[in-house]
Amino acid sequence: MEKTLSIIKPDAVKKNVIGKIIDRFESNGLRVAAIKKIQLSRADAEAFYAVHKERPFFGELVEFMISGPVVVSVLEGENAVAKNRELMGATDPKEAAPGTIRADFAESIDANAVHGSDSLENAEKEIAFFFAQREIL
Ligand code: CMP
Repeated sequence: MEKTLSIIKPDAVKKNVIGKIIDRFESNGLRVAAIKKIQLSRADAEAFYAVHKERPFFGELVEFMISGPVVVSVLEGENAVAKNRELMGATDPKEAAPGTIRADFAESIDANAVHGSDSLENAEKEIAFFFAQREIL
């Protein structure tokens, strides 16, 4: 069983589609092992996305991620990292396959509804960034 980190981003939280997105996970073999709604601070967003700090979109990414609350969750299941990425679709919703979360709920490459860990190694780091071990059940 793998675990991965999911973030429902401020655009999707504002659209009131948290439940619809969680349903995609649950209906496709992933289980919610931990979940919370939080407002990221600027320091949180900069630290979480530190890997992108030299990229030209870093400033906008941080501004967007602190523009409203997010829902962070730990998803568990077989091949959870890859399964979550398949369900999310491509980073840019214009390129996301029909029926994926980003095709159905995202507006743009910045406001792209969800984040998901891109590897098992990053999943472990990202889960530890948001959750204590006792919160993951
Ligand atoms: P996410 O999976 O959260 O990881 C980094 C985010 O940066 C990505 O989703 C996008 O929302 C955002 N982003 C903005 N521009 C780009 C870009 N050109 N390439 C990749 N990610 C981008």
